[in-house]
Amino acid sequence: MISKALSYIKNIKTTGAIYESSRFVSRNITNEINNHKPQIVIELGAGSGNITERILSKLHPDSQLFCFEIEPQFYAKLENIKDSRFHLIKESAADVTKYFDLSSVDVIISGLPLSLFDDSDRRQLLNDCYSLLKKGGVFRQFLYSLQKNYFMPIFDRMETSLEMNLPPAVLYSCYKLN
Ligand SMILES: C[S@@+](CC[C@H](N)C(=O)[O-])C[C@H]1O[C@@H](n2cnc3c(N)ncnc32)[C@H](O)[C@@H]1O
Repeated sequence: MISKALSYIKNIKTTGAIYESSRFVSRNITNEINNHKPQIVIELGAGSGNITERILSKLHPDSQLFCFEIEPQFYAKLENIKDSRFHLIKESAADVTKYFDLSSVDVIISGLPLSLFDDSDRRQLLNDCYSLLKKGGVFRQFLYSLQKNYFMPIFDRMETSLEMNLPPAVLYSCYKLN
């Protein structure tokens, strides 16, 4: 637990957090993962892999999960995940469109510290995520503050909920309907 916390704190400019998100966040941010049908799922900012493990526990056997992470301190933990559906991409989320066709992804789950991003980088990334989603697809993000304006202009519908976490987290559910 202490070594995990140190990984977050030492890299706070990249992680934007002092520890991994709570089990309430990991349970609820993954509730669009559907084990009744195969899905293409992307996780942005996998960190110590707590949400990653939760996604895998809910994933259909024929689904695929692609995780982006740029902090080398987390690679050993993520590389320990032995699951043929899991693919670690050691690149920035900014490169996500290099890997997928437009309108091909069912669910994108993000723990990225979006509030630390430049406005234009954040807007570009969220536009990219929107264009990757299938019609009916969902982008889910947790943040430690209320930032509806990041998502509202880009997605067709947005819902928020407050999740138990330290500090409390806002969970954004953003849909592509068209
Ligand atoms: C708040 S932590 C979330 C970690 C974990 N998913 C959780 O729920 O606790 C943010 C993560 O995003 C990663 N990250 C930051 N910028 C990134 C980028 N541009 N591309 C990929 N990962 C990034 C950080 O290294 C860190 O692991």
